[in-house]
Amino acid sequence: MSNFAENVANKILNALSKFYENDKRIKIVSAHISGISYENIGDSGLSFLNDIAKDGKFTVYTTVNPMGADIYNNAFDLSETFIAKQKEIAEIYLRMGAVDSFTCTPYDYFSLPKRGSHVSWAESSAVVYGNSFLKLFTNKESALSALASSILGETIYSDLHIKENRKITLAFKYKDEINELILGLLIYHIGKEVEKPFAIKLHEKLSSLEKKASVAALGTISNVSLFSINIDGKEVKETSKIFKDELKKEYEELNTSEKGEAIILGCPHLNHTEILSLLKRMDGRHFKKDCIIACCREAYRNVIKFCDQSLLNKKRVFFFQNACPIFSPLLKAMDVKNIITNSVKAAHYYKYRGIGVNLKKLEDIIETESE
Ligand code: F3S
Repeated sequence: MSNFAENVANKILNALSKFYENDKRIKIVSAHISGISYENIGDSGLSFLNDIAKDGKFTVYTTVNPMGADIYNNAFDLSETFIAKQKEIAEIYLRMGAVDSFTCTPYDYFSLPKRGSHVSWAESSAVVYGNSFLKLFTNKESALSALASSILGETIYSDLHIKENRKITLAFKYKDEINELILGLLIYHIGKEVEKPFAIKLHEKLSSLEKKASVAALGTISNVSLFSINIDGKEVKETSKIFKDELKKEYEELNTSEKGEAIILGCPHLNHTEILSLLKRMDGRHFKKDCIIACCREAYRNVIKFCDQSLLNKKRVFFFQNACPIFSPLLKAMDVKNIITNSVKAAHYYKYRGIGVNLKKLEDIIETESE
């Protein structure tokens, strides 16, 4: 006989079945749950989770998205109540069997399913990364449907779980120089137009930073959760060219401030290799304002094996571990009204939260904001 949590999970998937007009379900091997910041779910979400956790257990490998606060080191004095509520949420997920992950890049440190596996991932950037670079089969799940799937070990057999829907017939070409900001703007621009998976032909291979920037941009602006950076072997019927000038409009829309009081990096989370490379590029300089790097705890642990924490703080480099600076009261606690970032996703969400954004590539942030 099914328990309370399974009953609720079944109701969620049944509602989704009606939406897709499809009753068929498919077994999954992993789930990734989003929407765990107390900033997002508040007391009603916390109370719902407490009810589910009474008899709910995850039956598949389950990772979770970042929290709304760094509960290990409250360097920016977020309210104690917020920290306590956030800890409670984290403990519920861990009690239900989630892996101690709390990151939007579960592909960096955690166990990955084999190519071709069906999974149920929320967190739009991870969904696009999973489909596009890891060849996983997942739809863009909501916080609730991913939670339901992690309890039941299955999801609805629809959209990107069906091979036919993953065919790429549309392609774009971009021949100018790329960096993580251009990639973000380019995919954001394409994402506004497309309604189906697409390929993009670039003249350079993507770095890990560029891959993260592009999946985050697509997940932010579009319901399309699959693209390819390889045109070869695709039955492309339609190809368009994109020119550098077209990205200017996207940039002007997102770059709402000419300066910022703090730097926010790590949307999506940076791994330790990316952080160490950034520190190396600073080459003895320090930031002129606080630079907050969002990353998972594993990345942080690896960074401090090589760099002294107090020296980093002197350089005004701080970490926001297992946490998301966007869906967080962080900027309010810091009394910051304008930020500097290289992330198109962060710029998009900060804009809608009334925060001014000075958007520039990482190289320019290091050049202009450190001395
Ligand atoms: Fe990650 Fe938060 Fe950005 S979840 S992708 S740091 S909006």
